[in-house]
Amino acid sequence: MASYDIGVLAGDGIGPEVTHEALKVLEAVAAIEGFAYKLVEYPYSGEHYLKTKELVPDAVIDEWRTLDAVLLGAIGHPDVEPGLVERSVILGLRFGLDLYINLRPIKLYAEHLCPLKDKGPEDIDFVVVRENTEGLYSQIGGHLKKGTPDEVSIVNGVYTWKGCERASRYAFELAQKRAREGEPQGRRVTLVDKANALRPHDIWTRAFAAVAQEFPDVETDHAYVDACCMWMIKNPEWFDVIVTTNMFGDIITDLGAMIQGGMGIAASGNIHPGKTSMFEPIHGSAPKHAGKNVACPLGAVGAVSMMLDFLGEASGAARVEDAVADLLRSGEVPSADARSGIPTSVMGDMVVSRLRGGS
Ligand code: IPM
Ligand code: MG
Repeated sequence: MASYDIGVLAGDGIGPEVTHEALKVLEAVAAIEGFAYKLVEYPYSGEHYLKTKELVPDAVIDEWRTLDAVLLGAIGHPDVEPGLVERSVILGLRFGLDLYINLRPIKLYAEHLCPLKDKGPEDIDFVVVRENTEGLYSQIGGHLKKGTPDEVSIVNGVYTWKGCERASRYAFELAQKRAREGEPQGRRVTLVDKANALRPHDIWTRAFAAVAQEFPDVETDHAYVDACCMWMIKNPEWFDVIVTTNMFGDIITDLGAMIQGGMGIAASGNIHPGKTSMFEPIHGSAPKHAGKNVACPLGAVGAVSMMLDFLGEASGAARVEDAVADLLRSGEVPSADARSGIPTSVMGDMVVSRLRGGS
């Protein structure tokens, strides 16, 4: 029987609540599919930092490398300096484990969840491949004369040929896979950058074109990031796979989350193919909803599905995705957010019951 070691970082705010539901779903699908797993829980979060002043120690990053995958709830606490714990935990995982792909599917399961007029599930089904270890997130930069009228602040965007190439290759391979699986949009990769105003972004243009040579069966397209935002609203059906920089990927996937039903449903995988990878809902810790049993756990459940797919449990991954899709299509869930009227724990039970063949 296959067995997996899974790290769990439930984190802050609504993180523990949504993770609890995600783990319920994992338990149910493991029983159905017949695989085993061991959970290793880690306390790192804003809450933990406030109590102990501890961030993620280097030795723990080494320990994460020995796991099969990590499941993360949400990180961020209003009483901690902005970004401190997020950089330690989330960027610690992304950079520390070289998780160079941030995979963010934008898929609408049920028409009533979409705020766009005249668009339905057949129109919104694409994937954003966000480069995950470079760009404006490289942490190279800083302040000079901070707090004085002469203050200088520098944020550097770092793009390597290797980084652009491996993200592009992943995107092309994904387009081929989607075409094989019969996705209607299939076979197109769109590069999203800003190589007109930010000329050095043309490293992306060239690396993307070089990789495209290896994939003559995949169509290529290009959009500047501002136009991409416009197309995502106007004609989302044009997109199949998007590959983009770390910062642009961060921004356009919040927009993507809204057209697929909201932050409560969007999931992501931080991936290094063949190595320990991390899966998380794309929403934050939403402190105002914490502890009230109102947060939507479907993003965290989607992260479980993506994790299973990554682990090679394709059938379990599809089962979880189908259960969520079926639940949303049933119309029983008016919205995938804290206003749905369905408690977090009940929503988790609804997914589990569908997994077990109920309704
Ligand atoms: C995301 C988040 C993170 C990011 C933050 C919390 C550091 O917004 O995963 O999209 O900017 O990548
Ligand atoms: Mg973000």
